[in-house]
Amino acid sequence: MTSVILLLSGSMRSGSSNELVLRTARAAAPEGIRAVLYEGLGSLPHFNPDDDGDPLPAPVAELRAAIDGAAAVLVCTPEYAGTLPGSFKNLLDWTVGGTEIGDKPVAWVNAAAPGRGEGATATLRSVLGYTGAAVVEEACVRLQVDRGSLDEDGLIGDPAVREQLAKSLALLIRRP
Ligand SMILES: Cc1cc2nc3c(=O)[nH]c(=O)nc-3n(C[C@H](O)[C@H](O)[C@H](O)COP(=O)(O)O)c2cc1C
Repeated sequence: MTSVILLLSGSMRSGSSNELVLRTARAAAPEGIRAVLYEGLGSLPHFNPDDDGDPLPAPVAELRAAIDGAAAVLVCTPEYAGTLPGSFKNLLDWTVGGTEIGDKPVAWVNAAAPGRGEGATATLRSVLGYTGAAVVEEACVRLQVDRGSLDEDGLIGDPAVREQLAKSLALLIRRP
């Protein structure tokens, strides 16, 4: 049976290094795991509790369905001004009123330079706590992206990085 893992990037920047990590994770996914990249971040409306009801805005319904259909979630986000990018916090706010992410295994990849990005991961941990997601500590990793050594598909070619990402995906669904 194939398990789906939803990949959430916190960056909307074209050429994003965080999205590059997730696209590499998608390609490196071990057998039995299908990693799906969520691409709707820029389509989500600003969170407003007035709109968090039936019928949900279509992009929000799509986000919640994508989370619901996944066995687990892997996040890779940049840090902006010491915390999460506002657009990504907005995505997370939309998950609070739904039940889809509750108890779902979630992990993150911190691809910031050494010693950086800790503010983003600290906020992520805190916000995920409010959503009820189950953080899988052993699947959370820090890695370095060397944009100078991309493979012919434009993905991270470093076997150690790909192995780390594959392991993280496997641990998310408890298949070490
Ligand atoms: C508005 C803004 C604020 C930033 N603030 C931080 C920060 O507080 N800490 C940090 O380590 N990097 C910070 N950065 C750098 C980004 O995290 C870094 O460029 C990251 O690689 C961007 O991710 P992306 O390539 O996926 O878009 C900031 C960048 C921008 C544009």
